Amino acid sequence: MQKITPDELKTFIRYIYDISGIHLDQSKAYLVETRLKSLMAKTESVSYNDLYHKAKSDHTLSLEGKIIDAICTQETLFFRDNSPFTLLKNRILPELIAQKASKPTYFPTSLRIWSAACSTGQELYSIAIVLKEILLNQSKFNIQLLGTDISDSAISGAVSGEYSQVIVERGLPKDKRDKYLSKSGLKWKIRDDIKSICTFRKHNLMDSFSGLGRFDIVFCRNVAIYFKLKDKVMLFNKLADILEPGGYLIIGSSEALSGISSRFEPVIHSNMICYRLK
Ligand SMILES: C[S@@+](CC[C@H](N)C(=O)[O-])C[C@H]1O[C@@H](n2cnc3c(N)ncnc32)[C@H](O)[C@@H]1O
Repeated sequence: MQKITPDELKTFIRYIYDISGIHLDQSKAYLVETRLKSLMAKTESVSYNDLYHKAKSDHTLSLEGKIIDAICTQETLFFRDNSPFTLLKNRILPELIAQKASKPTYFPTSLRIWSAACSTGQELYSIAIVLKEILLNQSKFNIQLLGTDISDSAISGAVSGEYSQVIVERGLPKDKRDKYLSKSGLKWKIRDDIKSICTFRKHNLMDSFSGLGRFDIVFCRNVAIYFKLKDKVMLFNKLADILEPGGYLIIGSSEALSGISSRFEPVIHSNMICYRLK
């Protein structure tokens, strides 16, 4: 594998930050080398500088997208960490549904949930399964579930809604698998009644949130860890701005908001924690 020089590494660290907000430091030479290895070969780049210049001069942004795909960690699974989905089922949704149901309206009330940095979609599909299980009378609600990610390959995986046996076995209980997915050859496909309430699109969390609308609940898990403090502050401020009053934010199990945002209050339920807009 070709070694990256300190100057090339500096260039890539700045470039990756500019296009994604992902902050790497000088200790990440090996990570950059291993993640860009196959792209170096595919683009026949003779050096990392060569790859950088090819990406900068590609006005279709296709190579930039491939670099993002290669650099991003897309680790995810169905019902990751369990507790956010238990909280959603036992605390957040019953509260929001009761609130919304208490306001009579002629039209179905909207319920909007965003999986920000959804990777290949398992997070949003897990949310959709929880909703299906507790909202049997869906006609009262206009449910809109949005999943976004900066990675083209992650979004196309999410849109396909097709997963291998190994992926499905990571986190998805068999009874839910058999109820909400169907076997198609070697793959498992998310069933249409779940897929139809989920929309996926490419979006960079460093960009403006205008055009996304407002949300009752946002899952933003295991992505802010890659950002600088100033970008985390900006991100959670923007999330606070697009949440409905009293809306909920779910972050990763190893993440915290202290020193980042004071616009949310912790809500603790059966030893599990989520955040509500103050
Ligand atoms: C570790 S995965 C987390 C997926 C999911 N939220 C979970 O917790 O299982 C991190 C995801 O963040 C995405 N990501 C990284 N930087 C991003 C950015 N600036 N905007 C949107 N998504 C980003 C990556 O492409 C990747 O899919």
